[in-house]
Amino acid sequence: MASLTPALSRREREQQPVLFGHPGQIPDGACLGGVEPQLRRMQYFPIFLSLTGRRVLVIGEGEAAERKAGALRRAGGLVATAPRFGAGDAGLLDDCALVIGADAPDDELQALSAAAQARGIPVNIVDKPSLCSYITPSVIDRAPLSIAVSSGGAAPVLARLLRARIEAMVPPAFGRLAALADRYKDEFRRRLPEVALRRRVLEQALGGRVADLMLAGDDAAADREMQRVLQGEPDRAGIVYLVGAGPGAADLLTLRAQRLMGEADVIVHDRLVTQDVLDMARRDADRISVGKSKSNHSLPQDEINALLVRLGQEGRKVVRLKGGDPFVFGRGGEEAAALAAAGVAFEVVPGVTAALACAAGAGIPLTHRGDGAAGDGAVRTLTLATGHLVDGALDLDFGILARGGTLAVYMGLDSLPALRDGLLAAGLDPGTPAALVERGGRADQRELMGTLDELVAGGRAWSTGGPTLALVGAAVGRQVRRHLPQPGQDLSGPV
Ligand SMILES: C[S@@+](CC[C@H](N)C(=O)[O-])C[C@H]1O[C@@H](n2cnc3c(N)ncnc32)[C@H](O)[C@@H]1O
Repeated sequence: MASLTPALSRREREQQPVLFGHPGQIPDGACLGGVEPQLRRMQYFPIFLSLTGRRVLVIGEGEAAERKAGALRRAGGLVATAPRFGAGDAGLLDDCALVIGADAPDDELQALSAAAQARGIPVNIVDKPSLCSYITPSVIDRAPLSIAVSSGGAAPVLARLLRARIEAMVPPAFGRLAALADRYKDEFRRRLPEVALRRRVLEQALGGRVADLMLAGDDAAADREMQRVLQGEPDRAGIVYLVGAGPGAADLLTLRAQRLMGEADVIVHDRLVTQDVLDMARRDADRISVGKSKSNHSLPQDEINALLVRLGQEGRKVVRLKGGDPFVFGRGGEEAAALAAAGVAFEVVPGVTAALACAAGAGIPLTHRGDGAAGDGAVRTLTLATGHLVDGALDLDFGILARGGTLAVYMGLDSLPALRDGLLAAGLDPGTPAALVERGGRADQRELMGTLDELVAGGRAWSTGGPTLALVGAAVGRQVRRHLPQPGQDLSGPV
C-alpha cells in the first residue's frame, strides 16, 4: 500500500518562482504583509490621450519615425518633425503634448528625453525603454473603438500575437456598431435616465440583434433595429443567475458563466470564489461578499435568499457566484426555491464541482471499467457525500458506502476519523486507497495519498487550511500522474 507521502502536484514540481510586485522581490504564492499574490502591480497605467489639434513632436529620420508621425496624424495630432535634436533645439518642445524620438544618434535622443521629462512632457524613445516616460501599446483601430495591448515591454511578441487574436475576434463592423451607439447615445439617455435600466437595454441591443445585423453588413437594418429598441417599452424585470464558479481557476469557468459575469450589474459571491474568478466580472459591477471564513461566519442563508430576491425585484441582473457547482453542497436549491416563491426569474448555470476538479488535477480516475480479472475490478459508482458533522456525528449510510465505488467527501477534514471508523466498521478493506486533495483544480493544488488510517494520522498536520476533499476507493489507487513532454522529446510515436 502506498505510504503516507505528501505527493507534490505536477504544478508544484514544475513551479518556477514567478516574480511580481517589484521585479525580483517576491516569489509567486507568497503573501507580503497580507497583500495577496493576485494584486500584482500594473507596471504601466493605460490611458487614451486626446491629441486632436495638439502639437506633437517627432524627432528622427527613418521608417520608425515616419510610422509614428503617421499614427499621430491619424489621431488628430499636429505633428512637427525634425531629423535631429541638437543643442539649441529646446524650443521645438514648446506647447508639445507628446514627444517621440527614433532613428537619431543616442546622445541626441538622451538629450531629447531629458529635456521633455524636465518639462513634464510624456516622451517615448523607440526601442530605448530607459529613456521613455511612457510606452506605446499594440493598437487595434476600430474607430471609434480602440483596443490597446501591451506586455509592458516584457513580451512584445506575445502582445502582438494577442493583438492578432483580438483583431480576428473584433471585426471592423464593431467600429460601425460603436459609431451607431454613439449616434443614439443622447436619445437613449433622455428616454431611459435610469442608468442600470439603460445599460441593460443597450446590452441587449448591442450584444444581440443590432450587432447581428451590423456584423452581417446590413447597416441600415441595424439602424432601424436600434430605433425600434429606443421607442419600445424596456423590459424592467430582474433576473438572478445561480452560477457555478468552479474550483477557483478562472479558466475552469464555463463560457456561459464568463459571459454572464461580464454582463451582470451585481455579483453576490461566497468565500470559496477566488479573486482570479472575480477578476472576470465586469469592473463596475457591484460586488457583495456574503461568505467569510469559517470562524468569521457568513451571512445567514435566509438573509442571502432575501438579498437575492430584493435585487431581482429591483430589476437588477444578478450573478450569484458559488464555488464549484451551485447544486452540490452549495445551498443553491434553497436560493432557487426562494426566488421561485417570490416570482423572481432565475437560471442555474452549472460549474465544475470540487470532486471532478480534484480528481482531474490529481490524475485520479473516479470510475473504472475493469476487465473482471483479479486486481482489475470495476468501479461503477461515485458518491458525493458531505463530511459535515451533525451533533458531532457523521450521518452517512456506511453499509452502502463500504460496498465499493468511489466516495468523494466534501467538508471532510474534521470528520476524517469518524469517516474512517464508520467505513472500517462497515467492512471496508483497511488497505483501500484514499487521498486528500487541497485547493483542487488550482495552480497550488496539493495531494496526500495513503490509506484512511494514514490520512487520519497525518491529514491535520499536512493541511494548510485550503478547501480539502477526501477521496476513497479502489479507483483512487489508479492515480496516473500526468507528465508533460520534455523539451526536444519526440512525441510522434512509432510510425
Ligand atoms: C460548501 S462545500 C461547496 C461545494 C461546491 N459547491 C462544489 O460543488 O465544489 C465546500 C467544500 O467543498 C470542497 N471544495 C470546494 N472547492 C474545493 C477545491 N478547490 N479543492 C478541494 N475541495 C474543495 C471542500 O471540501 C469544501 O469544504
